[in-house]
Amino acid sequence: MKQLKLLYAGKAKSVYRTENPGELVIKFRDDITAFDGQKKDTLAEKGHLNAGVSAFFFGLLEKNGINTHLIRKIDDTTMLAHHLAMIPLEVIVRNIAAGSMVKNYPVEKGTPLNPPVIVIDFKDDTRHDPMLNDDLIYALKLASPEELHELKRIALEVNTVLREYLAGRGIDLVDFKLEFGKKDGVIYVGDEISMDSMRLWDKKTGESLDKDVYRTGQGDVITQYHHVASRIMAEE
Ligand code: C5P
Repeated sequence: MKQLKLLYAGKAKSVYRTENPGELVIKFRDDITAFDGQKKDTLAEKGHLNAGVSAFFFGLLEKNGINTHLIRKIDDTTMLAHHLAMIPLEVIVRNIAAGSMVKNYPVEKGTPLNPPVIVIDFKDDTRHDPMLNDDLIYALKLASPEELHELKRIALEVNTVLREYLAGRGIDLVDFKLEFGKKDGVIYVGDEISMDSMRLWDKKTGESLDKDVYRTGQGDVITQYHHVASRIMAEE
C-alpha cells in the first residue's frame, strides 16, 4: 500500500489517496484546535493517542456489527480506511447535558438525558456548523428520510456500545460526535472517535478526560489523553 497525493487536510488529520481508489490513508497529526480553529496548538503525541483510541473504538464497533471505515492500523498515527463519500453532517449524541446544549438552552450541566438527545449540525466551518432539523436535511438534499433514519439508528447503537464499554472503565460518556459516509450504497461510520470528539467524565470525580481540558485551558491535555487512552485500551 503506497501513500500517494494528499486529498484533504483537516484541522487535525490529513487524508491521502492510495494506489487503490477504494482506500485512503488517514494520518492523525499532533494538531489540536478549538472554537472553530481560533485556538490552536501542536502537541507531541496527540496524533498517536487519538489514532490509537479511534482504531480501538472502530474495532469495538465492528465487533458489534457496526460498519466503520477502518480497514487496519498502518502505524502509530496512521490508518487505512475505506474511501467513503462523506455526508456533511455532524451527528451528536448526548447522554448528559453539557457544552453547547447548556450554553444555548435552559438546562443545567450534568442533567441526565433519557432518552439520549440526537443533534445534527451541518458540517461547514465557514458557517460555524449550524444546527439542522429533518426538514432542512431533506431540503438541502443532505440525506433522504431513509438515510436519516439509518444515521440516527446507527448513532444510537454506537452510543449503546460505547457507553456500556466506558462505564466498565469508570467513565461516563457525556456526548460525542460521529460523521458518516457511503460506499456502494452502504453507510459507514467515518472520521474519528477520540477524546477530541467526545466528552468523557470520570464517574467518581467528575473530572473531564477529553478536549474540554484544552478548551478550558485547565490542566495538561496530553497527560489527560494518555491517562484516558490507557484506561480505555488496558486489558481487562
Ligand atoms: O460543542 P458541543 O457541546 O455541541 O459538542 C458536543 C460533542 O460533539 C462534544 O463531545 C464535542 O467534542 C463534539 N464535537 C466535535 N466536533 C464538532 C462539534 C462537536 O467533535 N465540530
